[in-house]
Amino acid sequence: MAKLKTTFFCQNCGSQYSKWQGQCTACKEWNTITEEVIQKPEKSDWKTPDSSAKRSSKPLLINEIDASKEARLDTQDDEFNRVLGGGLVPGSLTLLGGEPGIGKSTLLLQISLKLPYKTLYVSGEESQKQIKMRAERINANTSNCYILTETKTQNIFKQIESLEPDIVVIDSIQTLHSDYIESSSGSISQIKECTTELIKFAKETATPVILIGHITKDGNIAGPKILEHMVDTVLQFEGDRNHVFRILRANKNRFGSTNELGIYEMQGSGLREVSNPSELLISQKDDDLSGNAIAATLEGMRPLMIEVQALVSTAVYGTPQRSATGFNAKRLNMLLAVLEKRAGFRLGAKDVFLNITGGITVDDPAIDLAVVAAILSSNEDVSLQKDFCFAAEIGLSGEVRPVQRVEQRILEAEKLGFATIFVSKYNKISLKNTQIKIQLISKIEDVVDLII
Ligand code: TYD
Ligand code: MG
Repeated sequence: MAKLKTTFFCQNCGSQYSKWQGQCTACKEWNTITEEVIQKPEKSDWKTPDSSAKRSSKPLLINEIDASKEARLDTQDDEFNRVLGGGLVPGSLTLLGGEPGIGKSTLLLQISLKLPYKTLYVSGEESQKQIKMRAERINANTSNCYILTETKTQNIFKQIESLEPDIVVIDSIQTLHSDYIESSSGSISQIKECTTELIKFAKETATPVILIGHITKDGNIAGPKILEHMVDTVLQFEGDRNHVFRILRANKNRFGSTNELGIYEMQGSGLREVSNPSELLISQKDDDLSGNAIAATLEGMRPLMIEVQALVSTAVYGTPQRSATGFNAKRLNMLLAVLEKRAGFRLGAKDVFLNITGGITVDDPAIDLAVVAAILSSNEDVSLQKDFCFAAEIGLSGEVRPVQRVEQRILEAEKLGFATIFVSKYNKISLKNTQIKIQLISKIEDVVDLII
């Protein structure tokens, strides 16, 4: 019997070595190199051997290339389309990553069921019965979606050949297995080989393929980093499992912007597209509560009004506690120090708790002013006017700094019926005929006078 061919792969970055070593030279991780059995196939074509040799590409002048043929396939899901940049591009490979249980299978099954095209949903994780049960929960009716439970790529391609689907969904790439490689499913060499076969299939038949990918505990897509280089689009599905909101964003997109964002709400009957997230994120609009402030933030390109809640109370223990959910705790400490030094609030002996409602995490610095307003409101125990909202960054010397795309934020606030928005004096605003009052401020002290 011929000796099995083996090679060593770093499980973190996918680098290949001829012998074992303790540390990966490429990514500097320790103990990530493992041996995998590979057996080079005679031909690893998905369909006919040598089909690529027949169709060799010819250089064309850029003006001669007809881009209009690249019509995108409408997925019937506005949020998904938006993140993709207008729909699926024929022949593209899209990778959808996300934590277990976040709803990747639900999202893609739901989209497959709604599609007006012939779709093949290949699952290596669940049986056809289980998928049918899930489909019944989602309650979509279609006759175009075929379900296949199979993990061997050669068998999948055989089915694809007879079915000729317009779109193929694979759940998940880690469960696939190719005969050309000996090692087990989910290993680096298998993931690489299966993805290569799928890319070849997608490009040669102009069929879009969507892959589901598991992520590791540090949030990267399991498998080699090159997997992300190989595909055209990498989407990330994220959210807090205990909250209903799910956010879909593109980490890489060869055919569109990575600034777009899709928002869904997980319901008993699947995922619902949320076209107006601000309305859902702002909770009790009727009660007068101290410690609440609304921030006009941006997630990607999308304006999003979110609620900041603060609780300031006298510290019971010697060391005051500071805790922040959905907001950077270090930044909270910085803002408290600025309030103390520049506006004379003695918060050093107070416990401060901060919470962003809806279970989302905000990185946008424009939330600073709302955080400060919420803290002041809780500290003084006076509620802010309900139709106030804020969009500005705060600097170390207490200056109120301009933020990007302020006009978009102002228009969103106006649309949702806010009466006043507080922004930095240094923001250039050329909006005319707005109903909303634009309150310009330059120092943190001004805020104190205006809101309390
Ligand atoms: P799933 O799509 O299986 O997650 P993934 O493929 O990312 O691992 O979805 C998991 C969760 O979604 C599951 O815990 C139950 C919940 N869910 C609903 O709340 N409503 C539904 O209609 C469906 C189908 C799932
Ligand atoms: Mg799943």
